Formats: sequence, C-alpha cells, structure tokens
Amino acid sequence: MKKQSIRFHGTAPSPQCLGDAVLQGLTRRPRRISPKFFYDEEGSRLFDAICDLPEYYPTRTEMGILQACAMELSGLIGKDATLIELGSGASRKIRLLLEALRPRHYAGLDISQAFLHDSVSRLARDYPWLETHAVCADFSEEFDLPIFAESERRVLFFPGSTIGNFEPHDALTLLQRLRRVAQPNGGLLIGVDLKKDPRILHDAYNDSQGITAAFNRNLLKRILRELGATLNVDGFQHRAFYNGGPGRIEIHLVSRGRQDIHVLGRRFSFERGDSIHTENSYKYSIEQFHALARAAGFHPRRVWTDSADLFSVHYLSSVPSKPHARIISRL
Ligand code: AVJ
Repeated sequence: MKKQSIRFHGTAPSPQCLGDAVLQGLTRRPRRISPKFFYDEEGSRLFDAICDLPEYYPTRTEMGILQACAMELSGLIGKDATLIELGSGASRKIRLLLEALRPRHYAGLDISQAFLHDSVSRLARDYPWLETHAVCADFSEEFDLPIFAESERRVLFFPGSTIGNFEPHDALTLLQRLRRVAQPNGGLLIGVDLKKDPRILHDAYNDSQGITAAFNRNLLKRILRELGATLNVDGFQHRAFYNGGPGRIEIHLVSRGRQDIHVLGRRFSFERGDSIHTENSYKYSIEQFHALARAAGFHPRRVWTDSADLFSVHYLSSVPSKPHARIISRL
C-alpha cells in the first residue's frame, strides 16, 4: 500500500491581527468583531460540539444530502480532480465524498492551525491513496494556491453554509475569487442554509445545553488569553435571533451591566444592554443563491435539498452548459 502523503502550508493569523480587530471593532458603533475570530483551538472544538447538537440541523442535514448525492456528483466532477475544502474544520464531511469522487489531491484550508493539522493528519492516515495538504489560511482575505499546477481540475468544496457569515456583497466578492481559483474548467460544491420557519432557526442558535453560548463567549476568553485583557466573561450574555429584514441570524454578546474591558492599553466601557455583534448567518432561498452564483460567474448545474427543505447543496460549474431540464432535486 502507498505511504500516506501530507504536506503543511501557511500559519495562523497573528495575535496582532486579533488585537487590531478588537481595538477597531470595539471602537466602532455598532461594536463588531468578525466571527472568524471564534476559531482558536477551543472555538473549533466547541463548533464541532455544536454540529452534534439536536437543535443544530445544518450539519446532519448537509451530511445526509452529501451522502445521497455523492454518486451523482462523481458523474459531474469525474475522477482525479483536485479537491480544495474551505473551512475544513474536523474534515468530517469530505469523508462522505472521497470514495465516490476518488480525487487525486485534497487540500483542507482552515484558519485554526492546530485543529486543521490534527484533522487532515487523520484524513491522510485513513485515505493513504490521497495526496493531502493542510493549508492554514484566512479565506476571507485574498489567497492563492501555488501548491497546485494550473493544469489540475480544481473543485472547491465550501460546506456548512459558511458563506452565510459574509455580507451579501462580500459573499459576491468571495465567490468571484473562488471562481478564479476554480479556473475555467473547475467547479464549486457549496452548502447553503435555506430560509425557513424562524422558530427552527432560533432553536438552532439557542441550544438548551448552552454550547452555542459558550462558543460565542469563547471569543472573550480568547481576548483574555491572547491579548492579556482584563474583562469579565460572565458579564456578557449570548443573544441570537432571526432578523427577517436582511434574512439572517444575528449573534451578539450583550453586557449584563455596567462594566469595562481593558485591552492593549485601552479601556472600553459598556452599559447594561450594550452589545458586541459577533456573527451574522445569512439564509438564502435557492433562487437568491443562484442569482449570487451567476453574478460571480458560476453556472448552476445542480441543487439538492433534504425532504424538509432545511438545507441546500449546490454544484456550480465554471463551464457553461446546456440548460438542464431539472436542476433541483429534493431527496
Ligand atoms: C459555521 C458559519 C456555518 O452560521 O450556522 C453555529 C456558525 N454559529 N452556531 C452557522 C455557528 C453559531 C455556523 N457557520
């Protein structure tokens, strides 16, 4: 049997990067810190726990869809592609596709370096025929992949509805960038959470075990640990709600009372009810997402949804194709 192959690239964002974001984010109004800073090692672990929560339907629904569409996907993508996963986390989802797709290369990109290295190492051990790369990168910024030859057919895999973390205009910019990375002969397999009954959404982000609250508050713990701040983590409450206008879940840390955060020589004061906006999670209809994908230069080829219309998985091609009779299927 072939010896497993793994290579490591890139490094985690520096504490200075977090420091700049915190100083800027707490100065502006509304106060706001990007959700990408949730994912230190503890944050990645907490997110993995969220994925197993009974209320958090996206992960298991998407995994069910991927399992069901894997064979059909292999017909669309073909063998020996280069699979590049954005936000690979624990690398659980890709496992559902590898046997059916038989790619030659796999690269997992993630912002959480230690977690990424562990996950891709386990993947390399379990799939010795696959050439794997672990690339620590922040894909909300410009990135390129010099590790792959121009000639390889690249299929990007962007699961989990992470696209929902981006403002619609930034989502367009990101998809345009992905379209360039995918080159004229590639594609993008992307998971997108659907608009639905706000009660289902509310429960998914307000779980009864408080794991989502711990995930949100871990951002404050990270500011404590990495920036040596003085702050009371328990002085902030998790708040998540669906904002129907823009069609997004909003997540905030709300101050329970009057308090200060001291960080990097600065003081930030909070009154009771003042919030730090830590995440948006936009929900799309299939039509809305198609419009976005087309604006970015992709050609929607296929969409799969679950029977309850909770979640969608889209295959978008760089290559225009004859209009398909029926590109949407509900499993
Ligand atoms: C990783 C961005 C897809 O928006 O559902 C889960 C993050 N935040 N619970 C999401 C998240 C709180 C998640 N994404």
